[in-house]
Amino acid sequence: MSKKLSLIEAYNQTKYQLVGHSKRDLAVLKEALEAFESDLESDNYGTGKIIDEFQEKMAEFLGKEAAVFFPSGTMAQQIALRIWCDKKGLKRVAYHPLSHLEIREEDGLKELHQIESILLADKDSVIQLADVVNIDKEISCLLLELPQREIGGQLPDYETLEAISNYCREKNIKIHLDGARLYEILPYYRKSAPEISRLFDSVYVSMYKGIGGIAGAILAGDHDFIKDSIVWKRRQGGDLISLYPYIISADYYFNKRAHKMSQYYDEAVELARYFNQCEGIETKPLVPVSNMFHVHVQVSEEKLETILVELYEETGVGLTTRITEAEGNKCFFEMSIGDRYSLVPTNEVENVIKVLDRRLKEVGPEA
Ligand SMILES: Cc1ncc(COP(=O)(O)O)c(C=O)c1O
Repeated sequence: MSKKLSLIEAYNQTKYQLVGHSKRDLAVLKEALEAFESDLESDNYGTGKIIDEFQEKMAEFLGKEAAVFFPSGTMAQQIALRIWCDKKGLKRVAYHPLSHLEIREEDGLKELHQIESILLADKDSVIQLADVVNIDKEISCLLLELPQREIGGQLPDYETLEAISNYCREKNIKIHLDGARLYEILPYYRKSAPEISRLFDSVYVSMYKGIGGIAGAILAGDHDFIKDSIVWKRRQGGDLISLYPYIISADYYFNKRAHKMSQYYDEAVELARYFNQCEGIETKPLVPVSNMFHVHVQVSEEKLETILVELYEETGVGLTTRITEAEGNKCFFEMSIGDRYSLVPTNEVENVIKVLDRRLKEVGPEA
């Protein structure tokens, strides 16, 4: 009898995968490098043509006065909040309980900057105006993450964003956008990046997530804010002597994919519709508002893993490599649509959904 494969092993053997753009291997960097000439000069500790021009390009894309390239969004955002706190002389900010800063950064904001955070809204909902109005302590900055990744990429409506932004400006509260996945929300809002960015005093956007680059982040805002953020980038060791391998990949994949977000969004809506036809499955959101969504399944993580390994072997289509346990013996996984989805023939998508539905009907819901 053959050995049972792990989820990742089974996924890696599938002919088609429904998520992402491609494998994350050296080919990604090579493809970007080939688009540039060998005599392109390196940047040097944050200065030089390659970094200057890319920062200007991104500032213009976001409709902000200036932008700075960081090695990571984690570094960029802690610095943004630190600057706004220093300007007000108050080390307190507010954000969602499942914000990246709260759950994925080992308390960097508290440990490195002694900044206190107030958690707004129930963890399963997005922040609404009332959550902000009801904050009972003074804060320097409100951070909104759009889309809210840990709850399937949910979004408040645009009117809510405008109302929150107006309220913050009235109350002298700075408002920062965790726009790690900013490109991905533009089709749903039917807005340009500047139309979203203008609601915020500072904006972070990832240079690898939706577009499939290697790593990196852009932080944008007014000249004063960016001047301060460059000082902090130096203090935090973010001023690598050469950032150009990251900038090249950021520029290349921004050009290649930033304009394809409507396609990924429409495909996410289509795929979520397929998943929702399956027994014991509900996507969150029910109708996606970006290129991502979560698939909630009424069986335990262990059971789903067995089902998916067999499903991948039977159909040759991979859905995910990671399942997360949820309360009540249930589980979920994340789908994030990129270039790969349109390469999968429709009959293969329909087949994997049909087989998944059959397998879930066979096991029934978890007691
Ligand atoms: C919503 C959000 N904000 C910030 C970050 C941090 O980005 P980086 O990996 O560049 O540090 C991430 C990364 O996953 C994220 O999902």
